[in-house]
Amino acid sequence: MQPQAMWSPENLRNPYPFYAALRESAPVHVLAAFGGTHAITRYDDIAPILKNPALFSSQRIAPGLHLPKEVGEQARRFFRAQNNLIASDPPQHTRLRTLVSKAFTPRRVAEMEPRIRAITRQLLESMLAHEEFDLMAELAVPLPVIVISEMLGVEPERRQDFKRWSDHVVQTVALSQGKLDPGPILQSLEQLHAYLEETIERRRREPQDDLISALVEAAEGFLEVEDLISFTRLLLVAGNETTTNLLGNALVSLLRAPSELARLQATPTLVPSAIEETLRYEGPVQSLMRMTTQDTQIAGHPIPEGTRLFLVLAAANRDPRRFKEPERFDITREDQGQLAFGHGVHFCLGAPLARLEARVALEELLPRVRQLAFASGQEHDIDWGESFLLRGPRRLRLRAERCPS
Ligand code: HEM
Repeated sequence: MQPQAMWSPENLRNPYPFYAALRESAPVHVLAAFGGTHAITRYDDIAPILKNPALFSSQRIAPGLHLPKEVGEQARRFFRAQNNLIASDPPQHTRLRTLVSKAFTPRRVAEMEPRIRAITRQLLESMLAHEEFDLMAELAVPLPVIVISEMLGVEPERRQDFKRWSDHVVQTVALSQGKLDPGPILQSLEQLHAYLEETIERRRREPQDDLISALVEAAEGFLEVEDLISFTRLLLVAGNETTTNLLGNALVSLLRAPSELARLQATPTLVPSAIEETLRYEGPVQSLMRMTTQDTQIAGHPIPEGTRLFLVLAAANRDPRRFKEPERFDITREDQGQLAFGHGVHFCLGAPLARLEARVALEELLPRVRQLAFASGQEHDIDWGESFLLRGPRRLRLRAERCPS
């Protein structure tokens, strides 16, 4: 197998034929160019791996980002794996997850719905003032960042700063590939750190009705300020680009299947199942990493201790052994169980929030428009970015007629 094919321009545009070729030819592939990482693509192999963190560790993979030396100690500090939820294994993970889920409750998320609707309407108002618009820049990128900053309790006058800082936190991944000027990014990381440190101290003294105060309260006596800062940063990294991509991927999938878009516009109660289908069909997180803690076997193949595994969720979500007609985007699909939010102990903490934001965005957008379509030349020229871990359009130029209100 040619692993470099994974990031060929053709595969970044459409990775699914490559995933299918891997999945249908063998259950395990050794990717020599990735230092012997083993790629696993079948649903019935990946789901049990995610359920077994003792044998398939997240902690051992950490720190995950190999930043070049010149980026320096400053940036490294931001990615130390100490008490990092997503990069820990039970029992430490269980302790951290219990603490943060006390603050990040489904009730707190559900209470955000009216506010999410108001923010969405405001963004749509300005987006739909033009017949042609970039859905990503106008809706999909700003929505999650505004929502999480309001949930955390970032003051309105700091939101612009916060948006810049969180964009830069996400870009630190590209730093490890030597593609960006580290100066402005490091400056943002420093400023975000200082802002969060100060805010956490202030909320400790004077709690408000916000997520930072709830985290401070839940973690009192258990977590240091550094751990709270690290968790807040995780919410930014794990929650923003992924939700942005979910919205972009939903629109691309619907526009490429016009009969499904028409069905959805005719029957808005199908929005939640259209979102589930997008997660299966065009998942924002394409792959996860794990490392074996002992010699083991996967589908009969011996795998030594210390092997890095590349679990291709997006391939499992189109596994014909698990899903009927997996290559069809079907918004009324009945077979559930897609793995886009992971599975087992690390199952996405933000899944209810991501689902809510995507539902509200589609519920508000679709009745406001008719003749929704790709702008000229856009359909076959989508820039999917350069990551094979996260998938979503960088820009998405669409056009629509606005319905009279
Ligand atoms: C974990 C996907 C949105 C916060 C995960 C994992 C996946 C995932 C696959 C599992 C990682 C692993 O097992 O190694 C997604 C997708 C999203 C999304 C596809 C949007 C469509 C969000 C949002 C937030 C969030 C909105 C919070 C604001 C987290 C956190 C974890 C996580 C904190 C770590 C949970 C743990 O380790 O116990 N997410 N996510 N995610 N996600 Fe999300």
